[in-house]
Amino acid sequence: MVDAGDIEARIQTLRDLINQYNHEYYVLQEPSVSDAEWDRIFHELKQLEDEYPHLRTRDSPTQAIGAAPAEGFSQVRHEVPMLSLSNVFNREGLEDWIGRVGRFAGREDLEFSVEPKIDGVAASILYRNGEYVRGATRGDGIAGEDVTANIRTIRDLPARLEANGVLPAVLEVRGEVYMRRTEFDQMNVERESSGLPRFANPRNAASGALRQLDAAASADRPIRILAYGIGLVEGSVPHLHSEVLAMLSKLGIPIPLATSVCRNVDELWEACEAWLERRADLDFEIDGVVIKVNDTRLYPEIGTVAREPRWATAYKFPASQGITVIEDIVINVGRTGSLNPLAHLKPVEIGGVTIRRATLHNQDEIERLGVRIGDTVVVERAGDVIPKILSVVEASRTGEEKQFVWPETCPVCGSSIERVEGEALSYCVNASCPAQLREQVAHFVSRGAMDIEGLGSKLATRFVDQNLIQTLADIYNLDWQAVEAMEGLGQKSVENLKRSVELSKERPFARLLFALGIRHVGQQTAELIAEYFGSVDTLSNAEMVEIEAVPGVGKVIAQSLADWFAEERNLALIHDLRDAGLKLEVDEAGLAQPGETEWTGKTVVLTGRLSTLSRTDAEAFLKSAGARTSSSVSRKTDLVIVGEDAGSKAARALEYGIEIIDEQTFLERMRAT
Ligand code: IVH
Repeated sequence: MVDAGDIEARIQTLRDLINQYNHEYYVLQEPSVSDAEWDRIFHELKQLEDEYPHLRTRDSPTQAIGAAPAEGFSQVRHEVPMLSLSNVFNREGLEDWIGRVGRFAGREDLEFSVEPKIDGVAASILYRNGEYVRGATRGDGIAGEDVTANIRTIRDLPARLEANGVLPAVLEVRGEVYMRRTEFDQMNVERESSGLPRFANPRNAASGALRQLDAAASADRPIRILAYGIGLVEGSVPHLHSEVLAMLSKLGIPIPLATSVCRNVDELWEACEAWLERRADLDFEIDGVVIKVNDTRLYPEIGTVAREPRWATAYKFPASQGITVIEDIVINVGRTGSLNPLAHLKPVEIGGVTIRRATLHNQDEIERLGVRIGDTVVVERAGDVIPKILSVVEASRTGEEKQFVWPETCPVCGSSIERVEGEALSYCVNASCPAQLREQVAHFVSRGAMDIEGLGSKLATRFVDQNLIQTLADIYNLDWQAVEAMEGLGQKSVENLKRSVELSKERPFARLLFALGIRHVGQQTAELIAEYFGSVDTLSNAEMVEIEAVPGVGKVIAQSLADWFAEERNLALIHDLRDAGLKLEVDEAGLAQPGETEWTGKTVVLTGRLSTLSRTDAEAFLKSAGARTSSSVSRKTDLVIVGEDAGSKAARALEYGIEIIDEQTFLERMRAT
């Protein structure tokens, strides 16, 4: 027999925890537990309250949504409440939900709309006669904050709706404000080089941007929106939800791609699994799939319980977060000499993958997290990026945890380290630090750089360790006899290696510039700079202001290039590379504008493994022929080139009816261009 007092106490504990987590999430914007943990506790509370309804109170967090509005903004009352969603976690849950909906609707032949559940923050956007007049956060669902000025800074939200005869006089659009992964990463890189702390994830960054008291600060954050519904309306709107979305899209408001309409559990489950599979390919984070009854005329009949409509639910994906213990923190020295802290974890399985390491980014991040060796932490795996630590579970501390002491000298060569003012990263000052050289060589020979086939990072490291490579130019001056004598290298592979080293001399100047591994000079920056200056001589003689004048190049990059060319040893390296016969200027042919080709202006996606040419070369060809390459398939894609083992991208291309060609056809068309 369960003691009633125990249950009451458990309910109280769960409520206190949820209130604390809500406050951390909504007000402090620093969650201390994973979403999965929150869901688990919330679920347990709900179940207990369902089982013992007399213990349910009006102030229980199950009866409210989120936190009250923060101070600083005026309040906005939502005329139509902003509801929350119930969750299902598997096919059985979905079947139960459909059964329930069918009973309340009094019919079985329902249609459902299926959309991605975007992981951002909800917003309400009000248009009067097509004019944007007010934006608000959800708050507790009844009242939120007036963030009109901040929402105006959303780059893909129109300030005026395209009037096309169907525009209601008042239209409140509801949607999710989010950040693209790529734009979020770029923003963090920029923040890091200006000495600002990184944002933990795109959702926190988007939520923070919406709630900046100074709207100018929101404008610096790349927030976007995807609409998923409407609230207040004066005028007529379609009665099918899928048509409401189509109407919003016609009015110029972004809606999630590839929403679909399904008629039974099989179709719904298939759609849910398809979204789960495509999740890692998307440039924004989704945490589930939202399923809604399509005919909105049935909503009053089906009803709402405790601010969750019965006519919609969310299928929540299996957790992408997990909890484990930090066994050690080690420092890796990167190719630019940067000290990169890495957490060694007690192996933990997250979403079917075993995670052993997570990045801690830099010294400030270790301090921000307050993380110690031995701590229990929340780890997140998002897409295919290196997992990261989200937070420390302080409640699990035993007192045995050890503070991590940031080193005073380089852990590899013992030289002193410096932290440039205003930057978050520290660097080993020794330009010949073996760790740096190893990483530099590995970068130089890598695919996007000089792409020396057969010389992977492992072999490159062996060459460095055996003193066969002391500067990058030594790659072109290898003692081949010594190489042949190395264990595990057959004569044939040495011959191949020789050939690919020779071949790499033909790489264009921009690739070489990128391969040099100059701090902050990525692939695209290298291209911009190579095109602008045309040769290494012009570049090395340029003043910082001239470099800064290149469109797309900022102060940090200009300074870094100027510093690099100011070093004697780097000039010597350029000299040696020139002697070796590498390209230190842009080919005239490369400069010429390509004429119109069948590729001009097309958006092309490459997927799967190509067997006769490298992806970098294929991309270089497409670019030079005037095409754009993209990593994900969307309705805007014109052509998808599939190699071996192509996965979901090919499937999506089929679904959208986009032209698909194989490698052979691509090669034929390439030759004909
Ligand atoms: S519908 C009545 N659709 O998830 C239904 N919500 O957990 C109200 N969300 O507050 C929401 N993508 O912030 C809906 N396609 C989508 C969504 C979505 C993300 C968010 C939204 C909502 C929360 C509910």
